[in-house]
Amino acid sequence: MEAALLVESLTGNTWKAAELVGAKLQEAGWGVSGLSRVREPDLRSIQIADLVLVGTWTHGLFVVGQGPWGASALANLPAMRGKKAAVFCTFALNPAKTLDKMTGIIAGRGADVIGGFAMNRRHLDRNAEEFAARLVDVAPALV
Ligand SMILES: Cc1cc2nc3c(=O)[nH]c(=O)nc-3n(C[C@H](O)[C@H](O)[C@H](O)COP(=O)(O)O)c2cc1C
Repeated sequence: MEAALLVESLTGNTWKAAELVGAKLQEAGWGVSGLSRVREPDLRSIQIADLVLVGTWTHGLFVVGQGPWGASALANLPAMRGKKAAVFCTFALNPAKTLDKMTGIIAGRGADVIGGFAMNRRHLDRNAEEFAARLVDVAPALV
């Protein structure tokens, strides 16, 4: 399995989360075709990936109005028709519907979104491990 990671990050948490997930997938024998910014996506890494992982951070008023930061940048990602994708976000308090919103946006690029994971910024290691383990579990059904 080959995974491409596309990330939007302001203070580094989501980038770190992506690195941790990528490392865990590699430990499980996967390849990582690239880790790039949503606003400057590595197109080749997307092309050769079996699974595209898209991550951003939760933006809102902490108790209301939460959503994915950079929604318009996510909506401008290249078309991913026929690709499998998974979404993830980091958050401080409560991601609310951030993952659902991301799923809608990435599905709008034509990808088949197989799931998602919201990671508490204080538990990135543990959450990345769990997310990667879930992806490894479903991988046989993806190819
Ligand atoms: C302007 C701003 C708004 C935020 N709003 C929320 C929010 O509504 N809910 C929440 O759980 N976290 C919120 N956060 C916290 C970020 O989602 C969290 O710190 C995230 O890990 C940042 O990711 P990054 O380091 O990749 O930029 C907010 C952060 C900022 C800077």
